[in-house]
Amino acid sequence: MKFQICESIEELEAEAVVIGIPEGAERCDQRFAAAAAPLFESGDLPLKPLETLILPGKQKIVFIGISRTGDSEAWRRAASTAVRRLKKAKSIAFAGGDLRAMAEGALVGSFSVETYKTNNHSPAVERVVFVGGEPRALEQGAVIGESINWARALINEPSNRKPPREIAERAREMAGSVGLTVDVLEEKEIRELKMGALLGVSQGSDEPPRVVVLRYMGDSGSPDILAYVGKGITFDSGGISLKSADGMEKMKYDMAGGATVMAALRTLALFRARVNCVAVVPLAENMPSGRAQRPGDVVQSMSGKTIEIINTDAEGRLVLADGLAYARKLGATHIVDIATLTGAARIALGPYRVGVMGNQQPFTDSFLAAAKRAGEKMWQMPLDDEYRDMIKSSVADMANSGGRFAGMITAAKFLQEFVADTPWVHVDIAGIAWNDEEKPYLPKGPSGVGMRTLVEFGCSGGL
Ligand code: BES
Ligand code: MN
Ligand code: ZN
Repeated sequence: MKFQICESIEELEAEAVVIGIPEGAERCDQRFAAAAAPLFESGDLPLKPLETLILPGKQKIVFIGISRTGDSEAWRRAASTAVRRLKKAKSIAFAGGDLRAMAEGALVGSFSVETYKTNNHSPAVERVVFVGGEPRALEQGAVIGESINWARALINEPSNRKPPREIAERAREMAGSVGLTVDVLEEKEIRELKMGALLGVSQGSDEPPRVVVLRYMGDSGSPDILAYVGKGITFDSGGISLKSADGMEKMKYDMAGGATVMAALRTLALFRARVNCVAVVPLAENMPSGRAQRPGDVVQSMSGKTIEIINTDAEGRLVLADGLAYARKLGATHIVDIATLTGAARIALGPYRVGVMGNQQPFTDSFLAAAKRAGEKMWQMPLDDEYRDMIKSSVADMANSGGRFAGMITAAKFLQEFVADTPWVHVDIAGIAWNDEEKPYLPKGPSGVGMRTLVEFGCSGGL
């Protein structure tokens, strides 16, 4: 997709011109006033948010309803919706709105999940023109949109095509292209580091584990290092505690957190953000086999703490335990982890809000503020000490499952054991990372949620 800024609304050259009409508006801007007037007269305008009205012609005029909030998210969704509605136009123009958000939205809207259809000739918008605005804003929006799509493509990839080795390769390629430092730990090193929790998960699979480390050092004057740790389960069958067949195919998205932190580092590097940030992605495939770990097994994590495996399907917290400990070993002074960690997050918050928990309120607050600025809806859940009791084990330091109740919180409580007193935020995206129901601005499939917040937080010096 190519972007362009032109000087005035008169010189717009595109097959379709998209005009945002705010909810409750009574008229529209000069150049299109004449076309719009009778539609306001007849009550066809204004529109509900994201509704479109297309006037045919040599140059189509497309009205789209903009939510009353009028915030950047409203424009992002409008641009995405327009690109999805107007697939057959080679070029479209936007006659106003928030440039950065719209460039981002146009890219997010152009993402296709149809990679493996052999007759995949579906048309797509190639050129997007804006009227006026800062080239810098356009460029930032484009980088964010591309990063989100980079993550989504990896999340959408079938698990037979993205074992841990392959994800490490993709990380390497991406890192090379944007100037990030990359380090991939292979099985031998993972053993030497005594990452017993990660190894326990991966031992049932024929695919060896990996840990990807990406480094961006953009603030040499600062002693702070922000670590983003992302869950990288390339397929979650549940292991011996096997999941039911229904919907299991979707468990290819269990590495969404990992893809998201890598995409965030990509963006920070291209932005030349003033921050020191490392991404740590523990990668494994959770499979049942004659070598798989069993309920009742005890593993020792890199931190030294022992874990009784109650349920092999609670594998995300196991790989993250070693990921978090490794982030601290790398010198992280602040940690954010992001993961498709619990079904309980979906039960508690549904498909609309991401669950957030943390160990130091000011740090959590500044993360939530970044989410708000980024236009991603999140919600803090409690993390009281009492919940620690739910993951007590009679044989080891802790159990990897706290049972049915407060599942999102007990998972976070487990992770907290591995961050000591480093300021830390845990982000559970299990409910949102995969979009189950098509929306005007988002197809079914990977959403890329969290990327924008991680970038906003990294750029904002929120530490
Ligand atoms: N990857 C799943 C969580 C998940 C479920 C993500 C549905 C997206 C959609 C995770 O590894 C898992 O299986 N969690 C278990 C934990 C339980 C066994 C303590 C869960 O939530 O059921
Ligand atoms: Mn699982
Ligand atoms: Zn999982």
